[in-house]
Amino acid sequence: MKIKSAEFVKSSQSWKECPESKIQEYAFIGRSNVGKSSLINALTSRKYLAKTSGTPGKTQLINHFIINESWFLTDLPGYGYAKVSKSSRKVFQKLITDYILNRQQLTNLFILIDSRHDPLQIDIDFITFVGESQIPFSIIYTKYDKVKPKGFEDTLKKHEAKLYEVFSDLPPIFVTSAETKHGCDEILDYIEQINAN
Ligand code: GTP
Ligand code: MG
Repeated sequence: MKIKSAEFVKSSQSWKECPESKIQEYAFIGRSNVGKSSLINALTSRKYLAKTSGTPGKTQLINHFIINESWFLTDLPGYGYAKVSKSSRKVFQKLITDYILNRQQLTNLFILIDSRHDPLQIDIDFITFVGESQIPFSIIYTKYDKVKPKGFEDTLKKHEAKLYEVFSDLPPIFVTSAETKHGCDEILDYIEQINAN
């Protein structure tokens, strides 16, 4: 799919404030700093569409972007980031779980995982929650430019083994880098295919 336009629509503090249009919506979620906002910029070839940062916890709101004037791309805050205040220490903030459970327009949730890490319990817990909630999801490995292909193969096997403990079938899996744009075309084609159905 060719990206002809990509525009910021709004930032929302709750799913109730999200845009009302009933167009297809694809959201990006994952641990803080995993590269959600960077991947959105890489997919759209817009350097500054979503705000990125080396410090975890940059994205705090639900951010909607409209692509090709026809579908939403949504940047979500990361989970698993313990800030000092007690209320924000909850592992999966209510903002995120409420959005996932209530957003009717949500077509597919992309769950991002850092290619460099062995499976983390928090990611497995989150994927399990999404699966049990019957939300359509896919997995995206990020920062592929930071790993060696052979080492990554082993990491991927460990992740798959962990997922098979919970699921009988695995969801679609993408391997990406926001730096080199590896895997970006595959994700855009996947979205295009779903949009067409
Ligand atoms: P929060 O909004 O804080 O939850 O983070 P996020 O998941 O949106 O991460 P963000 O895109 O802000 O990126 C976090 C850091 O990782 C930044 O310093 C990025 O430059 C870096 N980064 C993201 N993607 C990649 C990638 O594919 N390769 C490399 N080398 N660095 C990346
Ligand atoms: Mg972000």
